[in-house]
Amino acid sequence: MFKVQTLNNISVHGLERLPRERYEVASEISSPDAVLVRSADMHKLDIPASVKAIGRAGAGTNNIPVAALSKRGVAVFNAPGANSNAVKELVLAGMFLAARNIPQSLDFVKKLEGDDKAMHVAVEDGKKKFVGFELPGRTLGVIGLGAIGVKVANAALELGMTVYGYDPAMTVQNAWQLNSGVRQALSVDDLVSKSQFISVHVPLLDATRGLINAERLKLMPKKGVILNFAREAIVDEKAVIESLDAGGLHAYVCDFPSNALKGHPRVIATPHLGASTGEAEDNCAVMVADQLREFLELGNVRNS
Ligand code: MLT
Repeated sequence: MFKVQTLNNISVHGLERLPRERYEVASEISSPDAVLVRSADMHKLDIPASVKAIGRAGAGTNNIPVAALSKRGVAVFNAPGANSNAVKELVLAGMFLAARNIPQSLDFVKKLEGDDKAMHVAVEDGKKKFVGFELPGRTLGVIGLGAIGVKVANAALELGMTVYGYDPAMTVQNAWQLNSGVRQALSVDDLVSKSQFISVHVPLLDATRGLINAERLKLMPKKGVILNFAREAIVDEKAVIESLDAGGLHAYVCDFPSNALKGHPRVIATPHLGASTGEAEDNCAVMVADQLREFLELGNVRNS
């Protein structure tokens, strides 16, 4: 019998991949052989010596002390690409929200008071206040052309945008998926200076911390939009606020609730919802459960 500890709610479709005759799966379990985790921070946990493998039901592994575990011989699996459609859809939603000033206009409508005549006046007022812009002909720069970045770039192209991509470490598999209409930027600076919208799709590493900083924001065309559905620290929030306040950026769209950004009228923030669809949760859980099972039962290491 293999023992698997779950540290977060893991989709039942994933758990069903671990047959009851051979697996005991529970959130509290002694001497587990493996752990299934979504976003729990494992850096702060004592990981029992019995653990041979960890499965992360998501793409990023920065909540797991991978280097330390590797030294102990613990295998760490993730689910690359399994939630990429969900993230892509939220990025596209973010572009529309920013371009049409939707959060501000929803807020405006919620606060309306008065009779029908007052509402009529408010409509005229709103029309003047919230004039937006359309996406065709605008330029999107995608930094990081992994499973998510490629989907975002291809979808933006279909919306009629001009799309630049930059990824010096792109895999052949992802290159095959990328629409040939996506132009290649020469560097991050080159991409930033050409793009009114920038979407980051890179993992958080020393090299990507603060990738979008004050210097790079100055290179961007005026009234730009930064989209960050990757990791909070990839974008320097202080620099973003300064740029928003100085009339540089039009909006910052991100998937992180942060005290620094809270209440800013042109920040659109969601609470890390990129991968939060039933479909993505199922896909991620199934992918990592299959990997854990193959590893525990056959000793195979597969990460896709
Ligand atoms: C990811 O890395 O894919 C996301 O953080 C997944 C999640 O929201 O759990």
